[in-house]
Amino acid sequence: MSIHQRRRGQSQFAPHLAAAARRPLPRSKWIFSHQRIALAFFFCLILVVLMSIGGRFLWKSSERSSEEGVIPKGSPLSVYDRGLVTINPSYKDILAASNRPWRNLTHRHLPTSVLGYVTPWNGNGYEMAKKYRAKFTHISPVWYQLKRGHKDLELIGGHDVDTDWIKDVRQEGQPLIVPRVVLEGWPLDNMLVETREKLQAIQLISSECRKRGYDGIVFEAWSLWSAYGTLQNSKLRQKALNFVQELGSSLHNIVLPRQTRNMQLIFVIPPVSRQAQELRDFTAADMAYLKDAVDAYSLMTYDFSNSYNPGPTAPLSWMRTCIQSVISLIGGNDNPIADNVLKLGPVSNQARHQGSLGRKMDNNMSKILVGINFYGNDFVLPQGGGPILGHEYLSLLSSYKPKLSWDGFNDEHYFDYTVAQELHRVFYPSLKSLSLRLEEAKSCGAGVSIWEIGQGLEYFFDLL
Ligand SMILES: *[C@@H]1O[C@H](CO)[C@@H](O)[C@H](O)[C@H]1NC(C)=O
Ligand SMILES: *[C@@H]1O[C@H](CO)[C@@H](O)[C@H](O)[C@H]1NC(C)=O
Repeated sequence: MSIHQRRRGQSQFAPHLAAAARRPLPRSKWIFSHQRIALAFFFCLILVVLMSIGGRFLWKSSERSSEEGVIPKGSPLSVYDRGLVTINPSYKDILAASNRPWRNLTHRHLPTSVLGYVTPWNGNGYEMAKKYRAKFTHISPVWYQLKRGHKDLELIGGHDVDTDWIKDVRQEGQPLIVPRVVLEGWPLDNMLVETREKLQAIQLISSECRKRGYDGIVFEAWSLWSAYGTLQNSKLRQKALNFVQELGSSLHNIVLPRQTRNMQLIFVIPPVSRQAQELRDFTAADMAYLKDAVDAYSLMTYDFSNSYNPGPTAPLSWMRTCIQSVISLIGGNDNPIADNVLKLGPVSNQARHQGSLGRKMDNNMSKILVGINFYGNDFVLPQGGGPILGHEYLSLLSSYKPKLSWDGFNDEHYFDYTVAQELHRVFYPSLKSLSLRLEEAKSCGAGVSIWEIGQGLEYFFDLL
C-alpha cells in the first residue's frame, strides 16, 4: 500500500523534474571557442571511459554465462585449498569469494552430528538447507510455539510447515527433520504440575510429529523456565525435568511405518553460567536424570556480548570453558583444562567422583551439539546496534572497504567504521573463526548446531 502511494507521488512530480533537466543552457556560455574544444575533449574522454566499462561488463557477463552454462557455478577448490581460511583476509577477498563456494556439495569435514536451524523469517535458510542437505545430519525449521490459548494450551506454527520443502531436503531419510518447539508466553507452570495439562502438551507435540512424519523435535524451554523463576523453585524445577523426561519417552515410543529409528528429542541448554552455581544452571545431575530421554543437547554457545556490552559473539576460550564444563557434567575429567572447571562447585565434585567414566566420554560428547553462530553484530560504540546477516555484512564491506582485524584474545575478526559521527564495530564470523570453533567441537567428539544457516555467507558451508 505505502509503496504504491510512493510510486504515485513520484509520477506526479516527475514532469517538473524532467522539464528542469531539459531546460537549455544560457546562450552566453557557448561563445568562447576554447571552452567548446575543452567540452568536446571532455565528451570524448567520457565516451572512451564508457566504452571500456561496457566492454569489461560484456566480457564479465560472458564469463559468467559460460560458468553457469557449461561448468557448474562455484569453485573447483575448497576454501582450505584456496588459502581463504586465514587471519588476514581482505575485504576484497571476502567480497570476491563468499558467493563462490566449493562445487563439491557433499563432502563432509565433520564426522559428528551437524544440526542447522532454519527460520521462516529469513528465507535464504530454506534454500541453503536444500542445496547443502548432504552436509547436515539434522535440519531444524523454527516453526512451533507451545503457548496458552484462550483456555487450553495450543501448539501454534502449523501454517509455516512446508511439506514440499521437507521432501526436497530429506531424501532417503537424510537429514532428519526436527522442527523446533519453543515455549512462549506465560503462565505455563500449570502444564508441569497438573497432569491433564501435561498430557495435553505432550499429546499436542507428539501427534503433530506423527501427523507430519517428523524425525523428532528440538525442544526449547530452559530459557523461559529460567526467566519466569520456574527453575529457581526446586519443586517446580523437578517437575520441569519430569516433563522433559516424559516428552522424551513419549517421542521415543513413536515409530513411523517406513522408519527404522524412533523419534528424537533434542533439548536446548544454556552455556555455563559466568556466576556461581545457581538453580537455573543445567547440571550433571540433570543430565544424568535425562540420560534416556534426551538424544542430544543444543548448547547455546553464542550471544556472549550484546548491545549493552559490545564485543565478540563467542570468544573461543569461553566456548572451550563451556565445552569443558559439559565434559565434566558428562563425567570425563581426563582433560587438564577440565580441572579448572571442576573447581566451580558441587556439580563438578560429583563429576570428579565419576572420573572413571572419563575414557568413555566420547560416546556422550557426540550428544552435545556445540552452538555456532552464522550471524554477527554491528555495534554502535560504546552501546547500541544489533545483529547483522551475511548480505548486510557484505554491503558494509563494499561501502566502507574496511581493514579487518583479528582479535587474538577472542579469536574473532572485527572491523570499525564511522557513519553519522558514530563509531561502529562489526563482529561477524569468518572462515578462520568458524574453522577454529568447528575443530574445537570435532576434537572432543562433539557435534555442532548452527544458528542459523540463512544468516551466513555461502562459502561457510565448505567448512562443514
Ligand atoms: C565430493 O567429495 C566426496 C567426498 O570427499 C567425493 O566422494 C565426491 O566424489 C566429491 N564430489 C565431487 C563432485 O567432486
Ligand atoms: C556417559 O556414558 C557412560 C558410558 O557410556 C554412561 O555410563 C553414562 O551414564 C553416560 N552419562 C550421561 C550423562 O549420559
